[in-house]
Amino acid sequence: MIVSEGWQRLEPKLNAIRTRLSALEYEPDRRHSFLPFTPEPDSPYVGFEGSRYLMMSGYSYLGLAGDPRVKEAAKVAVDQYGTGAHGVRALAGSLPLHEELEAAVARFLGREAAMVFGSGYAANVGTVGALVGPGDTVLIDKLDHASIVDGCQLSGATVTRFRHNDPEHLDRRLTDAKGTGLKLVIVDSVYSMDGDVAPLPELRKVCDAHGALLMVDEAHALGVIGATGRGIEEHFGDNTLVDVKLGTLSKAIPATGGWVAGPQALIDHLRFNARPFLFSAALAPAQAGAALESLRVLDLEPHRVTHIQRESARLRQTLNAAGIDTGTSETAVIPIIAGSDEKAYDLATACRKAGVIGLPVVSPAVPNTQARLRIAVTARHSAEDLDVAAAGFLEAAHAIGLIPSLP
Ligand SMILES: Cc1ncc(COP(=O)(O)O)c(C=O)c1O
Repeated sequence: MIVSEGWQRLEPKLNAIRTRLSALEYEPDRRHSFLPFTPEPDSPYVGFEGSRYLMMSGYSYLGLAGDPRVKEAAKVAVDQYGTGAHGVRALAGSLPLHEELEAAVARFLGREAAMVFGSGYAANVGTVGALVGPGDTVLIDKLDHASIVDGCQLSGATVTRFRHNDPEHLDRRLTDAKGTGLKLVIVDSVYSMDGDVAPLPELRKVCDAHGALLMVDEAHALGVIGATGRGIEEHFGDNTLVDVKLGTLSKAIPATGGWVAGPQALIDHLRFNARPFLFSAALAPAQAGAALESLRVLDLEPHRVTHIQRESARLRQTLNAAGIDTGTSETAVIPIIAGSDEKAYDLATACRKAGVIGLPVVSPAVPNTQARLRIAVTARHSAEDLDVAAAGFLEAAHAIGLIPSLP
């Protein structure tokens, strides 16, 4: 029983999350957060409470999470280097494997150098904090990822938001920006809740007109867009559009970690100034080994990327033809927009009854009128799997009245 004054003062916060969750997750069928799914090694299906479901909300875009080559590389790394990295990178924590991985990231992306962080979150927070500070201005898209927002807030720089994917609004914001400090523009390549792509050539022009640097988060783009999965520059056919490239090793690359790539001088600066790099343990050997092998497989097997692009277009088309709103999606991320938070939960529950996992994303992550299931197509989903998924989504959408009839 909690009685102290400190705990009593904390109680309103503890109650707020309980109240909010109980309004949405009021019976076991409506529970959708923190469910412990057990993945099957060689399929997009997962086990949960004795039943088998088709998982449609995972991030493992390239379908490599259970790949025998990637698993073997993780095991070899553990055999060679052990389970931990023995400290921070600047002291005892650097392994030859980290350097191999960094060289592979730089090579794959056509950059001079790269470095890896413990997570994509840490990569954003650390990079932003090392690039800007008081007196500088950072301009971010309204829908940029939380790790970019947090990095900006911690940095002490002036933070300005511009309208989503709106280069003209960025132009006006840059015109209004005061002072002679650095101006840094940060966008996501592919927006994680909407699946649309940043208008990079136009953003580049605006940045150049104002002498601003352009940083891009490729978390949902690496392995997904561009003919061979090299991300947004390959998508637009110009490898000179981005100044600072950043991404994760936790989505298409099925490990954990984050990376930054750019000129050697930038990486040298970040290695000595990015606080989550300096003051947090190095990437564990198994993660580095798995990431390195996954990059090699991505390089060898671009058909995985083609599959994702073809099949996500086909799924989107099937859903749209039946009257489902998938917003502005043009990549593997496909939102199924339900409306209110309650409706998104109704839909997720109906999907699970139909044997498909589509997890809800609700306010405040998205506006309450735009709550959705966040779906992602991966190379692990066969065309047949996606037909099963589409049938499940449509059945569920019809069951809750989101679409009036089934095709
Ligand atoms: C756009 C974006 N950036 C960064 C991150 C953080 O990456 P990680 O999960 O590897 O920390 C995420 C994760 O969801 C993301 O979606």
